[in-house]
This record gives sequence, structure tokens and C-alpha cells, in this order.
Amino acid sequence: MPVKEDETLLDACLREGLAMPFDCRNGGCGVCQCTVLHGEIELGPHQASALTEADRAAGRVLACVAKPRTDVEIEYRPTAQARPAARIHTARVASLDRLAPDVMRVRLEPEGGERIAFYAGQYLNVLLEDGQKRSFSFATPPHEGGPIELHVRLIPGGQFTTHVFESMQVGDVVRFEGPVGSFFLRESGDKPILFVAGATGFAPVKSMVEHALHAGLRREMVLYWGTRRLSDLYLRELPERWAREHANFRFVPVLSEPSPDDGWTGRTGLVHEAILEDYPDLAGHQIYACGSVKMVEAAHPAFTSHGLTPDDCFSDAFRLAPRIDSREADLVRLGGRP
Ligand code: FES
Repeated sequence: MPVKEDETLLDACLREGLAMPFDCRNGGCGVCQCTVLHGEIELGPHQASALTEADRAAGRVLACVAKPRTDVEIEYRPTAQARPAARIHTARVASLDRLAPDVMRVRLEPEGGERIAFYAGQYLNVLLEDGQKRSFSFATPPHEGGPIELHVRLIPGGQFTTHVFESMQVGDVVRFEGPVGSFFLRESGDKPILFVAGATGFAPVKSMVEHALHAGLRREMVLYWGTRRLSDLYLRELPERWAREHANFRFVPVLSEPSPDDGWTGRTGLVHEAILEDYPDLAGHQIYACGSVKMVEAAHPAFTSHGLTPDDCFSDAFRLAPRIDSREADLVRLGGRP
């Protein structure tokens, strides 16, 4: 099978219709692991957790960041169903709004008015000119026409996010691939849903809640949104409005480090601990958690030890992308549970 110049193993396999498994397409989840039997490959940046030393010693690579340097022979475990390659789209920046000192709302208008089908909670990979990717959730719900909304948090030293805050202009062209990811709202069932968002983890939760309300889901839904300060709750009026307008939705903001100027009298502490206080027994609930790796890694075992069935815990996490120079690090997403 021929591989185009600069094409990854995963892209080449998908182009040929092979049922190669994948999720994040960005070296973060480990789903695309395969074994190189012969030949040489060049491995791009990836998370250490997605490919351990033991994996590497066993000849395993991540197909989504592996580029063949010679003819190669690989072995992989096919998925039950071949998935199409995520499509590449072109869009123009329709607007840029600073929602908080370090959060920018970027609206992207796909060229030709293309309507992109996705599930609430999925994300896209912005394609940078040097071949790197940056992952951002769709903050808009799937039913909403018009521009796609992203919430971009400024990462000090981050190449792409600095560009967004300092030099991106309305009308700029952005290329991205997607939709990607398996962190999305499961609509069947009647279990009450708890959404846990940390900082800009609110973006996919916004998409999921707006979709659920639009679809008329009657299940009880509670959003716990944890940030450091009051100003970090950058679209607080939205969940407050959802709560006023929908009897089955509640909103619990939680600040971990409110400043005296905030005059905060609401909940404080870590967001997952606020949930455990309110729900000592989580059996019979479904939880969707999106935020930093630290938040999700702390929350997941705490929830399951309080009775949550692992199959009812859907999580997604942002973490610093692997870079030789960590000052250049930006956000990359890890895949959720399939
Ligand atoms: S798809 Fe390759 S690491 Fe996630």
C-alpha cells in the first residue's frame, strides 16, 4: 500500500479503507497502537501514557503520529467497523470575543456554508502549518446552524493559543479535521446526569446541555462548573438561564480560590468534592466530566468509590501536548470512553 509523502500510517490505512482503530488522531489516547514488524518509522510527539516504554520495547507505535521512513509491515487489531477518515474542512474566523482574561470565543464559519455533522461533546483538530494539531471542543450544539464556536484558553507560551490572542484576525483561514472523539452525550436511558466541567471544559458541556434541552430530554441534569475565580466562570449567565427556564436543570458553580473582590458566597473547594458532598451515593447516576487531566484523574476513582458504575462515567481530559520544549506546549485532548 503506498503512503504519500508526510502521511501518517493511520491516514494511509484509513485512505485504503482499513479498519484501523483510532480516536484522538493526535498521540494522546493510545487507541491506534500497532506493532511494526519490519521497517523504520519516525514517531511524532505523543503522550507518554499513550505509548509506554514497555510498548516501545515491544515494537509498538502510535499509527496516528507514525510516518514510515522505509517500507514497513505492521500488525494491528481491526475495529469491528471501519470508520471513515475524519474530513478536512476549511473555515474563516467569523468573530473573536474575549470572554475572560484568558478565554477567547472563536467562531469559525465553514467555507461554502458547509454544515458539519457531529455529536454533542465531540471536538475538532485545528491543523497548523507545521503539521501539528490543536484540539478544541465544539461549544455549539449540533442542531445550531451558523458558525462553530470554540472556547480557547490562553496557555502561556503556547504557540497556537498565543496566536489566537495576539494576531488572529476576523477573516483568517483555519483548516481543521473532524469531528473526532467518543466523549458525547448518550441520549438513551433515564438516569439523572451530572455534568462536571473544569474551566474551558465547559465548552463540550455547553454543547451537550443545549442539545439535551433542544431534544427535550426530561432527565434530571445538574452542572457543576469548577473554576478558580469568579471571572473564570466566563459564560455564567448561560447555565443560570438554563436553570431558570428548565425545571430539570440545575447549576452549581464551585470556586477553588475566590478572591476577596469576588464577594463569593457560593460553593468553594474542588468541584468533584462538591459533588461527593451532595451525592454520597452515586449509584444510578451518569456522569460526564471534562476538564484538566488532574481534575478528571482525581474525580474518576472518587466517583466510582462512591457507587458510580464505571460504564456510567464518561470522561474527557485536556493535557499539555508533548513537546520537546514544554514552553511550546498547548492543549491536546484525550479520548473518552468508547
Ligand atoms: S488515535 Fe493515535 S493516539 Fe489517539
